[in-house]
Amino acid sequence: MRKRVYSGIRATGRLHLGNYLGAVKGMLALQDEYDCIFSVVDLHTITVPYDPKTLQQSVREIILDYLAAGLDPKKCLLEIQSRVPQHMELAYYLSTIYPVSRLEDLPTYKEKKAQYPKYVNMGLLYYPVLMAADVLLYKGELVPVGIDQEPHLEVMREIARKFNGVYGETFPEPTRFKTTGEYVPSLSGVGKMSKSVEGSYITLTDDLETIRKRLAAAPTDSGTEGGSVPETGNVANLFKLMKLFVDDSTYKKFAQDYQDKKIRYSDMKDVLADAIFQELTPLQEKRKEFSQNPKLVDEILESSNQECHERAQEVVNEVREKMGFSS
Ligand code: TRP
Repeated sequence: MRKRVYSGIRATGRLHLGNYLGAVKGMLALQDEYDCIFSVVDLHTITVPYDPKTLQQSVREIILDYLAAGLDPKKCLLEIQSRVPQHMELAYYLSTIYPVSRLEDLPTYKEKKAQYPKYVNMGLLYYPVLMAADVLLYKGELVPVGIDQEPHLEVMREIARKFNGVYGETFPEPTRFKTTGEYVPSLSGVGKMSKSVEGSYITLTDDLETIRKRLAAAPTDSGTEGGSVPETGNVANLFKLMKLFVDDSTYKKFAQDYQDKKIRYSDMKDVLADAIFQELTPLQEKRKEFSQNPKLVDEILESSNQECHERAQEVVNEVREKMGFSS
């Protein structure tokens, strides 16, 4: 049997380069060989402040980004998480075998608590349990996501192990599928590229001018430090992006300029903007085709959704039976 793969991205507007390199590239690499389900996890979206009026539009944008990036409905299933309510049902069952204290200790939970001190809701604490249910609902084994998700993967494995121990062998222990762009730094110089931090990201639908503008705003230094390219900070981040998008010799040229204290960051940013835009152009063209054909997109979603429902119900029935309910 082919290995089962599951991954999802929250519906917070359009995808950015961090999502693309950290998750979507992994999805693309896996769809040819494995049994894949790729989701827009809109139930996870609502754990932080959001606008119900634009939620469905955000979901649609990500589906379009997925299709534009090359996720192929002939090879994989595309899921909208909230349309498969079995996620929530399984999450509840799984929540009963997992300690609250472990959830309170997770770095993602602590970060969100600090970010939204007035919005510390149960859903936020429950987030990793729902995420475990996402993958386990399809008995997923491989999860292409960024490195920041590793703590959540650990929770997922603990839950699978515990469930198997208590109720009998049921779930595989999922592992993360790593990509080269698993950590894409923020343009602002601090942390990772994130949709919730203004000035940190470039979206997949940005035109060249916008990409240039966003890069222009990224902080640098005087360019007279010399030495090897730093490991952390603003300049390090720009070089990390260079590495992901330009060829080796171009990268080396700018690294040498840095060392020789004659780097011109505006030149480097121009080169980087062009390279990013070049990679995004075919995606943007494909996206246009899909957005002009909403019926086709609806059909894709409908047939995927049916298949997901059937598979999900089978696993929920198995879990219910093992836990002492009638299936
Ligand atoms: N927590 C993930 C993120 O923020 C999103 C997510 C939710 C997910 N459920 C998932 C990723 C299941 C992979 C598998 O990126």
